[in-house]
Amino acid sequence: MEFDLRKAINAISDIVQNRPAPIREFDQIYMKVADMVIQAEYVARVFNDKNIVFVGDGDGIALSTAHLKAQSVINYGPKSITVLDFDERIVNSVRRFGEKLYPKIEILAYLYNVAEALPPEHFGAYDGFHINPPWGASNDGESVITFFERGSQATKENSLGIVVMADDPELLWTQKVIRDTQQCALNLGYVVSELLPQLHLYHLDDAPELRSCSCLFRRIDPICMQTTSKPLEPTRLENFYGKNSPLLFRYVRERPTLNTNRESDQLYILEKLEVNNG
Ligand SMILES: C[S@@+](CC[C@H](N)C(=O)[O-])C[C@H]1O[C@@H](n2cnc3c(N)ncnc32)[C@H](O)[C@@H]1O
Repeated sequence: MEFDLRKAINAISDIVQNRPAPIREFDQIYMKVADMVIQAEYVARVFNDKNIVFVGDGDGIALSTAHLKAQSVINYGPKSITVLDFDERIVNSVRRFGEKLYPKIEILAYLYNVAEALPPEHFGAYDGFHINPPWGASNDGESVITFFERGSQATKENSLGIVVMADDPELLWTQKVIRDTQQCALNLGYVVSELLPQLHLYHLDDAPELRSCSCLFRRIDPICMQTTSKPLEPTRLENFYGKNSPLLFRYVRERPTLNTNRESDQLYILEKLEVNNG
């Protein structure tokens, strides 16, 4: 991997400037800039010329990958990127920035909550997926598995998936979540193709040293593919964002602003999720 580091960091800094303020309650904890360069270049390499989907992307890795290519920092990268996220501020910021990158690369973004079935237009539609989900310290990795299943449902037979998970050998819960995610992946017909351990750091005040790995999964057994997408069982919503922090909200809605080129001064409205218990 060879590229001009100054050009790369300047490109990523455009993306950082475009990110809405993170909401800690929903595990929006942003990746540090140097690690974004590394992850974005990696995504571009793995998904060169592919149509890919990000299920959740507050970090801005989708735009970073696209911008590195559009700015000719690297000469490879995905053909198109679709971002699905429940935060309208993120969806709008991706659309806004994405318009500037078209036609060099196509970026689309839609509101979607993983608690709900994947809309048919996204089912089996992409060549690969990328997720950096809530890390599942308090729900035995259930939130990682939920995002994995949605990514898997959104992709075609011979798909690849990049999963970013907490990874600290001293913290047993992180290793158990990695194990359980790999177990779920096996059941869905994937093998681990590559694991880059302890690769990224985050702007996380209470655990500034907590790193994540990047694990690449390859689907080798399409027979195990899920053929439908269903809403999450209510029990899987529990402790989704941490202890006693269930998944309650359907969308984070952006509040309108007079400043049309930037995110709206950190204002948002929470829209409740309707859970069907019957
Ligand atoms: C949970 S955060 C994980 C930390 C990651 N470093 C980040 O901040 O992007 C990843 C993304 O998932 C999105 N997200 C959280 N809960 C979601 C849900 N229920 N459905 C869809 N996206 C969700 C967040 O808005 C965020 O963009």
